[in-house]
Amino acid sequence: MSRPFTTIDDDGAPLKVVVVGAGGMGRAWLGAVEASPLVELGGIVDLDLDAARAGAASVGKPDLPVGRGTAQLASDVGAQAVINVTVPAAHHPVSTEALFAGLPVLGEKPVASTVAQGLSLAAAAELTGQLFMVSQSRRYNRDLFAAKALAGGLGRLGILSADFFKAPHFGGFRDQMDHPLLLDMAIHQFDMARFLLEADPVSVFCEEYNPAWSWYRGDAAAVASFEMSGGERFVFNGSWCSPGQETSWNAAWRLGGEYGTVLWDGDNPPTASLASADAAALAAVPADAVVVKDPGSEVHGSLREFVTALRTGTPPMGQVHDNILSLAMVEAAIESAATGRRVLIGALLERSYREAVRDEKRPDVAAVLNSWSIDGSFSAGAALGTAPAPAVPSPIS
Ligand SMILES: NC(=O)c1ccc[n+]([C@@H]2O[C@H](COP(=O)([O-])OP(=O)(O)OC[C@H]3O[C@@H](n4cnc5c(N)ncnc54)[C@H](O)[C@@H]3O)[C@@H](O)[C@H]2O)c1
Repeated sequence: MSRPFTTIDDDGAPLKVVVVGAGGMGRAWLGAVEASPLVELGGIVDLDLDAARAGAASVGKPDLPVGRGTAQLASDVGAQAVINVTVPAAHHPVSTEALFAGLPVLGEKPVASTVAQGLSLAAAAELTGQLFMVSQSRRYNRDLFAAKALAGGLGRLGILSADFFKAPHFGGFRDQMDHPLLLDMAIHQFDMARFLLEADPVSVFCEEYNPAWSWYRGDAAAVASFEMSGGERFVFNGSWCSPGQETSWNAAWRLGGEYGTVLWDGDNPPTASLASADAAALAAVPADAVVVKDPGSEVHGSLREFVTALRTGTPPMGQVHDNILSLAMVEAAIESAATGRRVLIGALLERSYREAVRDEKRPDVAAVLNSWSIDGSFSAGAALGTAPAPAVPSPIS
Protein backbone atom coordinates (compact mmCIF):
# COMPACT_ATOMS: atom_id res chain seq x y z
CA MET A 1 0.00 0.00 0.00
CA SER A 2 1.37 3.39 -0.96
CA ARG A 3 1.34 6.42 1.31
CA PRO A 4 0.53 9.99 0.27
CA PHE A 5 3.43 12.41 0.10
CA THR A 6 4.11 16.06 -0.66
CA THR A 7 4.56 16.80 -4.35
CA ILE A 8 6.73 19.50 -5.93
CA ASP A 9 5.18 21.51 -8.76
CA ASP A 10 6.90 21.26 -12.11
CA ASP A 11 8.04 24.82 -12.85
CA GLY A 12 9.97 23.72 -15.92
CA ALA A 13 13.29 23.74 -14.08
CA PRO A 14 15.13 20.54 -13.15
CA LEU A 15 14.79 19.35 -9.56
CA LYS A 16 17.84 20.45 -7.57
CA VAL A 17 19.39 17.59 -5.58
CA VAL A 18 22.33 16.97 -3.31
CA VAL A 19 24.05 13.60 -3.41
CA VAL A 20 25.19 12.32 0.01
CA GLY A 21 27.99 9.76 -0.11
CA ALA A 22 30.66 10.03 -2.78
CA GLY A 23 32.08 6.50 -2.66
CA GLY A 24 31.95 3.86 -5.37
CA MET A 25 28.18 3.86 -5.83
CA GLY A 26 28.00 7.62 -5.21
CA ARG A 27 30.09 8.09 -8.35
CA ALA A 28 27.51 6.07 -10.31
CA TRP A 29 24.73 8.28 -8.95
CA LEU A 30 26.64 11.46 -9.75
CA GLY A 31 26.92 10.23 -13.34
CA ALA A 32 23.19 9.43 -13.45
CA VAL A 33 22.25 12.85 -12.06
CA GLU A 34 24.47 14.58 -14.58
CA ALA A 35 22.97 12.53 -17.42
CA SER A 36 19.36 13.34 -16.52
CA PRO A 37 17.57 16.49 -17.73
CA LEU A 38 15.11 16.05 -14.84
CA VAL A 39 17.59 16.92 -12.09
CA GLU A 40 20.38 19.36 -11.38
CA LEU A 41 23.31 18.56 -9.08
CA GLY A 42 23.41 21.25 -6.35
CA GLY A 43 26.18 19.83 -4.18
CA ILE A 44 27.85 16.77 -2.68
CA VAL A 45 27.91 15.76 0.99
CA ASP A 46 30.42 13.35 2.48
CA LEU A 47 32.06 13.03 5.90
CA ASP A 48 35.24 12.82 3.86
CA LEU A 49 35.44 16.18 2.09
CA ASP A 50 38.21 14.96 -0.18
CA ALA A 51 35.88 12.23 -1.43
CA ALA A 52 33.18 14.86 -2.04
CA ARG A 53 35.61 17.07 -3.95
CA ALA A 54 36.88 14.11 -5.97
CA GLY A 55 33.26 13.23 -6.78
CA ALA A 56 32.67 16.79 -8.00
CA ALA A 57 35.80 16.63 -10.14
CA SER A 58 34.70 13.27 -11.57
CA VAL A 59 31.70 14.94 -13.20
CA GLY A 60 33.76 17.91 -14.37
CA LYS A 61 32.47 20.30 -11.68
CA PRO A 62 35.40 20.84 -9.31
CA ASP A 63 33.84 24.04 -7.92
CA LEU A 64 30.56 22.39 -6.89
CA PRO A 65 29.60 23.15 -3.25
CA VAL A 66 30.55 20.32 -0.87
CA GLY A 67 29.95 19.79 2.84
CA ARG A 68 29.66 17.32 5.71
CA GLY A 69 26.09 18.08 6.79
CA THR A 70 23.12 17.10 4.63
CA ALA A 71 20.49 19.61 5.83
CA GLN A 72 23.04 22.43 5.95
CA LEU A 73 24.37 21.99 2.41
CA ALA A 74 20.88 21.37 1.02
CA SER A 75 19.73 24.64 2.59
CA ASP A 76 22.83 26.52 1.39
CA VAL A 77 22.30 25.51 -2.24
CA GLY A 78 18.48 25.49 -2.24
CA ALA A 79 18.20 21.74 -2.91
CA GLN A 80 14.73 20.23 -3.22
CA ALA A 81 15.65 16.56 -2.65
CA VAL A 82 18.40 14.30 -1.34
CA ILE A 83 19.96 11.18 -2.84
CA ASN A 84 21.43 9.09 -0.02
CA VAL A 85 24.28 6.86 -1.21
CA THR A 86 26.07 6.50 2.10
CA VAL A 87 27.05 3.22 3.77
CA PRO A 88 24.07 1.30 5.21
CA ALA A 89 24.89 2.36 8.81
CA ALA A 90 24.40 6.00 7.79
CA HIS A 91 21.11 5.47 5.92
CA HIS A 92 18.94 6.01 9.01
CA PRO A 93 20.60 9.17 10.39
CA VAL A 94 21.12 10.84 6.99
CA SER A 95 17.62 10.10 5.66
CA THR A 96 15.99 11.10 8.96
CA GLU A 97 17.87 14.41 8.90
CA ALA A 98 16.78 15.08 5.32
CA LEU A 99 13.12 14.19 5.90
CA PHE A 100 12.90 16.48 8.92
CA ALA A 101 14.53 19.24 6.87
CA GLY A 102 11.48 18.95 4.60
CA LEU A 103 13.33 17.12 1.83
CA PRO A 104 12.19 13.99 -0.02
CA VAL A 105 14.80 11.23 -0.16
CA LEU A 106 15.86 8.70 -2.77
CA GLY A 107 18.03 6.21 -0.86
CA GLU A 108 20.26 3.34 -1.88
CA LYS A 109 19.35 -0.14 -0.75
CA PRO A 110 19.11 -1.44 1.92
CA VAL A 111 16.52 0.89 3.42
CA ALA A 112 18.63 0.90 6.62
CA SER A 113 20.97 -1.37 8.57
CA THR A 114 18.06 -3.15 10.23
CA VAL A 115 14.33 -3.64 9.71
CA ALA A 116 13.82 -1.79 13.03
CA GLN A 117 15.57 1.29 11.62
CA GLY A 118 13.54 0.90 8.44
CA LEU A 119 10.35 1.09 10.50
CA SER A 120 11.64 4.26 12.16
CA LEU A 121 12.23 5.76 8.72
CA ALA A 122 8.74 4.77 7.56
CA ALA A 123 7.33 6.57 10.59
CA ALA A 124 9.49 9.63 9.88
CA ALA A 125 8.28 9.71 6.26
CA GLU A 126 4.65 9.56 7.45
CA LEU A 127 5.20 12.29 10.01
CA THR A 128 6.96 14.68 7.65
CA GLY A 129 4.77 13.86 4.66
CA GLN A 130 7.91 13.55 2.55
CA LEU A 131 8.53 10.81 -0.01
CA PHE A 132 11.18 8.30 1.00
CA MET A 133 11.85 5.90 -1.86
CA VAL A 134 14.47 3.14 -1.77
CA SER A 135 16.22 2.56 -5.06
CA GLN A 136 16.26 -1.17 -5.84
CA SER A 137 18.04 -0.60 -9.09
CA ARG A 138 17.74 -4.14 -10.47
CA ARG A 139 13.97 -3.72 -10.74
CA TYR A 140 14.55 -1.14 -13.46
CA ASN A 141 15.18 -3.63 -16.25
CA ARG A 142 13.12 -3.94 -19.42
CA ASP A 143 13.67 -7.73 -19.59
CA LEU A 144 12.44 -8.16 -16.01
CA PHE A 145 9.31 -6.22 -16.90
CA ALA A 146 8.92 -8.42 -20.00
CA ALA A 147 9.24 -11.56 -17.84
CA LYS A 148 6.49 -10.23 -15.61
CA ALA A 149 4.31 -9.49 -18.63
CA LEU A 150 4.86 -13.03 -19.96
CA ALA A 151 3.98 -14.40 -16.52
CA GLY A 152 0.51 -12.99 -17.15
CA GLY A 153 -0.04 -15.93 -19.53
CA LEU A 154 0.92 -18.60 -17.00
CA GLY A 155 -2.33 -18.65 -15.03
CA ARG A 156 -1.77 -19.20 -11.33
CA LEU A 157 1.90 -18.82 -10.39
CA GLY A 158 3.49 -21.37 -8.10
CA ILE A 159 7.24 -21.88 -8.42
CA LEU A 160 9.96 -19.26 -8.79
CA SER A 161 13.67 -19.93 -8.66
CA ALA A 162 16.73 -17.72 -8.99
CA ASP A 163 20.18 -19.21 -9.52
CA PHE A 164 23.02 -16.81 -8.79
CA PHE A 165 26.59 -18.01 -9.30
CA LYS A 166 29.45 -15.53 -9.55
CA ALA A 167 33.11 -15.45 -8.52
CA PRO A 168 34.11 -11.83 -7.85
CA HIS A 169 37.29 -11.03 -5.95
CA PHE A 170 36.23 -7.76 -4.31
CA GLY A 171 39.16 -7.64 -1.95
CA GLY A 172 37.46 -5.21 0.46
CA PHE A 173 34.90 -5.27 3.27
CA ARG A 174 32.81 -7.96 1.58
CA ASP A 175 35.61 -10.49 2.01
CA GLN A 176 35.37 -9.94 5.79
CA MET A 177 31.57 -9.77 6.27
CA ASP A 178 29.68 -12.46 8.23
CA HIS A 179 27.00 -12.85 5.55
CA PRO A 180 28.44 -11.35 2.35
CA LEU A 181 26.04 -12.98 -0.12
CA LEU A 182 22.80 -12.61 1.85
CA LEU A 183 23.49 -9.10 3.16
CA ASP A 184 25.16 -7.44 0.25
CA MET A 185 23.68 -9.18 -2.80
CA ALA A 186 20.62 -11.37 -2.23
CA ILE A 187 18.38 -8.42 -1.35
CA HIS A 188 18.32 -7.67 -5.08
CA GLN A 189 16.92 -11.10 -6.01
CA PHE A 190 14.59 -11.17 -2.98
CA ASP A 191 13.16 -7.82 -4.05
CA MET A 192 12.90 -8.92 -7.70
CA ALA A 193 10.98 -12.03 -6.59
CA ARG A 194 8.42 -9.85 -4.80
CA PHE A 195 8.09 -7.79 -7.98
CA LEU A 196 7.68 -10.80 -10.30
CA LEU A 197 5.15 -12.56 -8.09
CA GLU A 198 3.43 -9.43 -6.76
CA ALA A 199 3.54 -11.24 -3.46
CA ASP A 200 5.02 -10.67 -0.02
CA PRO A 201 7.12 -13.08 2.02
CA VAL A 202 5.47 -15.26 4.66
CA SER A 203 8.33 -17.44 5.91
CA VAL A 204 11.79 -18.70 5.00
CA PHE A 205 14.05 -21.65 5.62
CA CYS A 206 17.67 -20.88 4.78
CA GLU A 207 21.03 -22.59 4.92
CA GLU A 208 24.26 -20.63 4.59
CA TYR A 209 27.61 -22.28 3.92
CA ASN A 210 31.11 -21.55 2.74
CA PRO A 211 32.55 -23.82 0.03
CA ALA A 212 35.98 -25.27 0.87
CA TRP A 213 37.80 -23.06 -1.64
CA SER A 214 35.98 -19.84 -0.69
CA TRP A 215 38.09 -16.70 -0.38
CA TYR A 216 35.47 -15.07 1.87
CA ARG A 217 35.66 -15.16 5.68
CA GLY A 218 31.87 -15.40 6.06
CA ASP A 219 29.47 -17.73 4.28
CA ALA A 220 29.55 -16.93 0.58
CA ALA A 221 26.80 -19.34 -0.47
CA ALA A 222 23.19 -19.87 0.54
CA VAL A 223 20.00 -21.70 -0.33
CA ALA A 224 16.82 -19.99 0.83
CA SER A 225 13.27 -21.22 0.32
CA PHE A 226 10.52 -18.67 0.90
CA GLU A 227 6.80 -19.20 1.17
CA MET A 228 5.09 -16.20 -0.43
CA SER A 229 1.69 -14.70 0.32
CA GLY A 230 0.03 -16.28 -2.74
CA GLY A 231 1.21 -19.72 -1.61
CA GLU A 232 4.07 -19.66 -4.13
CA ARG A 233 7.56 -20.90 -3.28
CA PHE A 234 10.59 -18.80 -4.17
CA VAL A 235 13.93 -20.60 -4.02
CA PHE A 236 17.18 -18.65 -4.13
CA ASN A 237 20.30 -20.73 -4.75
CA GLY A 238 23.45 -18.64 -4.85
CA SER A 239 27.18 -18.39 -4.40
CA TRP A 240 29.79 -15.66 -4.65
CA CYS A 241 32.65 -18.10 -5.12
CA SER A 242 31.60 -20.21 -8.13
CA PRO A 243 34.04 -19.72 -11.01
CA GLY A 244 32.97 -20.95 -14.43
CA GLN A 245 29.57 -20.85 -16.14
CA GLU A 246 28.72 -17.75 -14.14
CA THR A 247 25.16 -16.45 -14.22
CA SER A 248 24.05 -12.89 -14.80
CA TRP A 249 24.37 -10.40 -11.92
CA ASN A 250 20.57 -10.39 -12.10
CA ALA A 251 20.54 -14.23 -11.58
CA ALA A 252 18.99 -16.84 -13.89
CA TRP A 253 15.25 -17.17 -13.35
CA ARG A 254 12.57 -19.79 -13.86
CA LEU A 255 8.92 -19.02 -13.15
CA GLY A 256 6.44 -21.88 -13.28
CA GLY A 257 2.69 -21.51 -13.45
CA GLU A 258 -0.47 -23.42 -14.22
CA TYR A 259 -0.08 -23.20 -18.02
CA GLY A 260 3.66 -23.07 -18.54
CA THR A 261 7.02 -21.58 -17.71
CA VAL A 262 8.94 -18.35 -18.22
CA LEU A 263 12.73 -18.46 -18.38
CA TRP A 264 14.99 -15.43 -18.03
CA ASP A 265 18.77 -15.68 -18.04
CA GLY A 266 19.07 -12.21 -16.53
CA ASP A 267 20.86 -10.65 -19.49
CA ASN A 268 18.66 -11.28 -22.53
CA PRO A 269 14.93 -11.08 -23.24
CA PRO A 270 12.94 -13.80 -21.42
CA THR A 271 11.23 -16.68 -23.18
CA ALA A 272 7.92 -18.38 -22.43
CA SER A 273 6.78 -21.91 -23.02
CA LEU A 274 3.05 -22.25 -22.53
CA ALA A 275 0.98 -25.39 -22.61
CA SER A 276 -2.60 -24.23 -23.17
CA ALA A 277 -4.04 -23.45 -26.62
CA ASP A 278 -4.93 -19.90 -25.61
CA ALA A 279 -1.49 -19.35 -24.23
CA ALA A 280 0.21 -20.72 -27.33
CA ALA A 281 -0.53 -17.49 -29.18
CA LEU A 282 1.32 -15.56 -26.52
CA ALA A 283 4.21 -18.02 -26.66
CA ALA A 284 4.51 -17.41 -30.40
CA VAL A 285 5.20 -13.72 -29.79
CA PRO A 286 8.96 -13.09 -29.54
CA ALA A 287 9.68 -12.15 -25.96
CA ASP A 288 11.51 -8.99 -26.94
CA ALA A 289 8.34 -7.88 -28.73
CA VAL A 290 6.21 -8.16 -25.60
CA VAL A 291 4.99 -4.63 -25.07
CA VAL A 292 6.03 -3.41 -21.67
CA LYS A 293 6.36 -0.02 -20.11
CA ASP A 294 10.03 0.99 -20.39
CA PRO A 295 11.21 1.22 -16.78
CA GLY A 296 14.54 2.80 -17.70
CA SER A 297 17.80 1.19 -16.77
CA GLU A 298 19.00 0.65 -13.20
CA VAL A 299 19.67 3.89 -11.23
CA HIS A 300 18.65 5.95 -14.27
CA GLY A 301 15.23 4.31 -14.06
CA SER A 302 14.78 4.77 -10.32
CA LEU A 303 15.90 8.41 -10.54
CA ARG A 304 13.31 9.06 -13.25
CA GLU A 305 10.58 7.35 -11.24
CA PHE A 306 11.49 9.36 -8.12
CA VAL A 307 11.22 12.69 -9.94
CA THR A 308 8.02 11.64 -11.71
CA ALA A 309 6.52 10.65 -8.36
CA LEU A 310 7.38 14.02 -6.84
CA ARG A 311 5.95 15.90 -9.81
CA THR A 312 2.73 13.89 -10.14
CA GLY A 313 2.05 12.22 -6.80
CA THR A 314 2.12 8.79 -8.48
CA PRO A 315 3.47 6.34 -5.88
CA PRO A 316 6.79 4.87 -7.00
CA MET A 317 8.08 1.33 -6.51
CA GLY A 318 10.28 1.16 -3.45
CA GLN A 319 8.34 3.49 -1.17
CA VAL A 320 9.76 2.84 2.28
CA HIS A 321 6.73 1.05 3.74
CA ASP A 322 6.77 -1.48 0.92
CA ASN A 323 10.53 -1.84 0.63
CA ILE A 324 11.01 -2.84 4.27
CA LEU A 325 9.74 -6.32 3.38
CA SER A 326 12.71 -6.89 1.06
CA LEU A 327 15.12 -6.22 3.93
CA ALA A 328 12.92 -8.38 6.18
CA MET A 329 13.55 -11.29 3.78
CA VAL A 330 17.30 -10.84 4.27
CA GLU A 331 17.11 -10.65 8.06
CA ALA A 332 14.77 -13.62 8.25
CA ALA A 333 17.05 -15.70 5.99
CA ILE A 334 20.06 -14.90 8.17
CA GLU A 335 18.11 -15.77 11.31
CA SER A 336 16.94 -19.04 9.81
CA ALA A 337 20.48 -20.00 8.82
CA ALA A 338 21.73 -19.17 12.32
CA THR A 339 19.01 -21.09 14.17
CA GLY A 340 18.35 -23.93 11.75
CA ARG A 341 14.63 -23.10 11.97
CA ARG A 342 11.99 -21.76 9.67
CA VAL A 343 11.40 -18.04 10.39
CA LEU A 344 8.04 -16.32 10.04
CA ILE A 345 8.32 -12.84 8.52
CA GLY A 346 5.44 -11.62 10.69
CA ALA A 347 7.29 -12.66 13.85
CA LEU A 348 10.44 -10.90 12.65
CA LEU A 349 8.44 -7.72 11.94
CA GLU A 350 6.90 -7.88 15.41
CA ARG A 351 10.33 -8.15 17.07
CA SER A 352 11.72 -5.39 14.86
CA TYR A 353 8.79 -3.17 15.77
CA ARG A 354 9.48 -3.60 19.51
CA GLU A 355 13.14 -2.83 18.86
CA ALA A 356 12.18 0.29 16.89
CA VAL A 357 9.91 1.55 19.69
CA ARG A 358 12.60 0.80 22.30
CA ASP A 359 15.41 2.54 20.41
CA GLU A 360 13.57 5.53 18.94
CA LYS A 361 15.20 8.81 20.01
CA ARG A 362 12.58 11.20 18.63
CA PRO A 363 9.33 11.42 20.65
CA ASP A 364 7.36 12.47 17.56
CA VAL A 365 8.54 9.44 15.59
CA ALA A 366 7.89 7.22 18.63
CA ALA A 367 4.29 8.51 18.69
CA VAL A 368 3.79 7.39 15.07
CA LEU A 369 5.35 3.99 15.82
CA ASN A 370 3.02 3.60 18.82
CA SER A 371 0.02 4.37 16.61
CA TRP A 372 0.81 1.17 14.64
CA SER A 373 -0.03 -0.92 17.68
CA ILE A 374 -3.60 -2.15 17.84
CA ASP A 375 -4.86 -3.42 21.21
CA GLY A 376 -1.28 -3.61 22.40
CA SER A 377 0.11 -5.64 19.54
CA PHE A 378 1.86 -4.59 16.37
CA SER A 379 -0.18 -4.71 13.19
CA ALA A 380 1.91 -5.17 10.02
CA GLY A 381 -1.22 -4.39 8.06
CA ALA A 382 -1.72 -1.05 9.82
CA ALA A 383 1.96 -0.17 9.67
CA LEU A 384 3.03 -1.33 6.23
CA GLY A 385 -0.23 -1.86 4.42
CA THR A 386 0.47 -5.53 4.05
CA ALA A 387 -0.35 -8.78 5.74
CA PRO A 388 2.73 -10.89 5.11
CA ALA A 389 2.18 -13.59 7.70
CA PRO A 390 -0.87 -15.70 8.32
CA ALA A 391 -0.85 -17.04 11.87
CA VAL A 392 -0.09 -20.58 10.73
CA PRO A 393 1.61 -20.76 7.33
CA SER A 394 1.00 -23.84 5.25
CA PRO A 395 3.71 -26.49 5.61
CA ILE A 396 6.31 -26.98 2.91
CA SER A 397 5.78 -30.49 1.61
N1 LIG B 1 22.36 -0.82 -6.37
C1 LIG B 1 23.51 -1.42 -6.44
O1 LIG B 1 23.74 -2.25 -7.31
C2 LIG B 1 24.59 -1.05 -5.45
C3 LIG B 1 25.93 -1.35 -5.74
C4 LIG B 1 26.91 -0.95 -4.81
C5 LIG B 1 26.54 -0.31 -3.64
N2 LIG B 1 25.21 -0.06 -3.39
C6 LIG B 1 24.79 0.60 -2.14
O2 LIG B 1 25.26 1.95 -2.18
C7 LIG B 1 25.57 2.39 -0.86
C8 LIG B 1 27.00 2.93 -0.86
O3 LIG B 1 27.89 1.91 -1.23
P1 LIG B 1 29.37 2.25 -1.73
O4 LIG B 1 29.91 0.98 -2.30
O5 LIG B 1 29.36 3.49 -2.57
O6 LIG B 1 30.11 2.57 -0.33
P2 LIG B 1 31.47 3.38 -0.14
O7 LIG B 1 32.01 2.95 1.18
O8 LIG B 1 32.32 3.28 -1.35
O9 LIG B 1 31.01 4.93 -0.05
C9 LIG B 1 30.19 5.43 0.97
C10 LIG B 1 30.50 6.90 1.19
O10 LIG B 1 29.59 7.40 2.17
C11 LIG B 1 30.31 8.29 3.02
N3 LIG B 1 29.61 8.40 4.30
C12 LIG B 1 29.50 7.48 5.28
N4 LIG B 1 28.74 7.94 6.28
C13 LIG B 1 28.34 9.18 5.93
C14 LIG B 1 27.53 10.16 6.55
N5 LIG B 1 26.98 9.96 7.76
N6 LIG B 1 27.33 11.32 5.90
C15 LIG B 1 27.89 11.55 4.69
N7 LIG B 1 28.68 10.65 4.06
C16 LIG B 1 28.90 9.48 4.66
C17 LIG B 1 31.70 7.65 3.14
O11 LIG B 1 32.65 8.59 3.57
C18 LIG B 1 31.92 7.15 1.72
O12 LIG B 1 32.58 8.12 0.92
C19 LIG B 1 25.35 1.19 0.06
O13 LIG B 1 24.10 1.28 0.65
C20 LIG B 1 25.41 0.00 -0.90
O14 LIG B 1 24.63 -1.09 -0.44
C21 LIG B 1 24.25 -0.41 -4.28
